[in-house]
Amino acid sequence: MTKIQNLFPSLKGKEAAQSQSEGANQPASEQTQCIVRHLAIIMDGNGRWATRRHLPRLAGHKAGVNALRRVVEHASDEHIEMLSVYAFSTENWRRPRREVEGLMRLFWETIRSDLEKLHRDGVRLRHLGRLQDLSPDIQQAVRDSVELTRNNTRIALNVCFNYGGRAELVDAVRQIIADGRNPDSITEELISSYLYTRDLPDPDMVIRTAGEMRVSNFLLWQSAYSEYYSTPTLWPDFGREDLRAALESYRQRQRRFGSLSASGHIIEEAAAPAHIKRR
Ligand code: FPP
Repeated sequence: MTKIQNLFPSLKGKEAAQSQSEGANQPASEQTQCIVRHLAIIMDGNGRWATRRHLPRLAGHKAGVNALRRVVEHASDEHIEMLSVYAFSTENWRRPRREVEGLMRLFWETIRSDLEKLHRDGVRLRHLGRLQDLSPDIQQAVRDSVELTRNNTRIALNVCFNYGGRAELVDAVRQIIADGRNPDSITEELISSYLYTRDLPDPDMVIRTAGEMRVSNFLLWQSAYSEYYSTPTLWPDFGREDLRAALESYRQRQRRFGSLSASGHIIEEAAAPAHIKRR
């Protein structure tokens, strides 16, 4: 991992992103849109990776943890400020008991074995999902790791474990009602403030490995305007070059957020795609 202390003093600060040389001549609004600050990943293909090697599926998940360890370092080197990874969905409980138990144990063991190093490396850990449904020792390990790393600033790692986008919205609506909110006060900002991701930026890009092109209940609200990227690489094989290819693809795209250009300006007639030229 690049040894630059406090590279990102604030996740909301734009300075780090704007100091990158790529696009240095562009206005800030055009320039920052080229940079992935928050990357979300659907880590798919562990099972296929194991099956191809005649190994049990859990061996694929273990290899998936190793891939995640590497990607946290590569992402930090690429100046990504925040990573959100889909490690266990609210639907994954439907898998065979042995696999579910294996994933639970792996999650717990990984926190225990990696926490000190992650902390030393300046990684801030967060958990997104329904913590209360996990075993008491996992809940405790998660709380300890979040607390220990809360002041770290190099890169934030949000582990979505027992996470579901719909469950998150259900939890938010329940809490909004419990808080007695007036219907007239319900805005997008208010709903965002009730999500697990309150105070976090939306992901700029969502990568899905193993060639699948489904959203699978991942960050449904937050990824409304995220750029999607699918790669055939199985998650345990995902490495630095795959990450760079995804980031390069992102740089080629123009994000408009429903407007005609990222900066909110009307784009030149000649540059506009045919379907928005004539109104
Ligand atoms: C999808 O592959 C992957 C998962 C359901 C689990 C992802 C978990 C890890 C990478 C390891 C656990 C994470 C932590 C943070 C300890 P799949 O099993 O659906 O693969 P397949 O589609 O090829 O069967």
